[in-house]
Amino acid sequence: MLFMSDKKRLLTGLQSSGDLHIGNYFGALKPFVDMYENYESFLMIADYHALTSLRDPEAMHRNTINVVKDYLAAGVDPEKAVIFRQSDNQDHVELGWVLNCMVTVPFLQQAHAYKDKVAKGLEPNAGLFTYPMLQAADITLYDIDVVPVGEDQRQHLEYTREAVGKFNRAFGETLKEPKEMIYESVGVVPGTDGEKMSKSKGNIVPLFGTPEETEKAIMSIVTDSEGDNPENVYAIHRLIKTAEELLPVYEEHKGRYGDLKKILVNDLEEIIAPMREKREQISEDDVKNILADGAKRAKVISNVTMERVRKMIGVSL
Ligand code: ADP
Ligand code: TRP
Repeated sequence: MLFMSDKKRLLTGLQSSGDLHIGNYFGALKPFVDMYENYESFLMIADYHALTSLRDPEAMHRNTINVVKDYLAAGVDPEKAVIFRQSDNQDHVELGWVLNCMVTVPFLQQAHAYKDKVAKGLEPNAGLFTYPMLQAADITLYDIDVVPVGEDQRQHLEYTREAVGKFNRAFGETLKEPKEMIYESVGVVPGTDGEKMSKSKGNIVPLFGTPEETEKAIMSIVTDSEGDNPENVYAIHRLIKTAEELLPVYEEHKGRYGDLKKILVNDLEEIIAPMREKREQISEDDVKNILADGAKRAKVISNVTMERVRKMIGVSL
């Protein structure tokens, strides 16, 4: 099915870099699931972006399958969103090249992702250097209006607009300027140590771990030893229950952190269990079929943009 509505277009890209945690779920996945049907939505696996740091074909394959499963399990309907891989559609690298020719080296040198690697003394590859222009292509190929992303991606959207502006000024109005939609309503989900939950910090509560793994992580959450309310436990609890619902529970179990953690385990499990079950029903072949169908649907749209671009720059004779 191709889109035929007057809804705005939305696209987000996923770097499939490992198993998701509940911070990812409440911070990005759930907000996406809650709103994607209001738009013509595209969900793209950014596997060629992942190649800037991943040299493990087996992991590349596994991560791709897994991230699609995660989104399907969380409620994305592949009929309603176009789910596809960047590497399945050659238009991305082609427009990425064209956009590379629009921006300067000093401009790309200011990109955070690149600067961070250099600051850490890591050897940046040229793919990492031009990463923002591949991302700009991901977005502009589909005439996208909004791009839901975390705060860390704000600069990439600025870079996209800059490249689009330069292209349009040089060749005439061709590409659409997108806007970012920063996920911020839930704030930062704390990890088991009270810091921001992040896979690089080893403080995560897994989203699709076994019930035992979820429980182990929750029971290890650090709490202050004096107050009545274990803050980090409560912060996670508030993501799934209202303050009114929690008030009597926290009153009744005042100071008994272990009990409150067990209640949180059960409440979380109520949300995760149905998703976990759904995820187990999804096979690798299901994912491959969805991605093949998504690639076809994506290309129908991006080919039109690419034709337009080729004509404007003078390479379609
Ligand atoms: P990580 O920090 O574990 O590497 P990513 O940077 O891959 O996570 O984040 C993927 C998405 O999940 C982003 O949109 C980000 O905003 C969101 N996210 C990650 N960690 C949290 C958190 N602790 N609280 C809220 N949102 C988060
Ligand atoms: N750079 C993004 C990230 O690391 C992933 C991404 C690639 C993306 N292409 C995109 C996000 C296009 C939004 C739109 O999270």
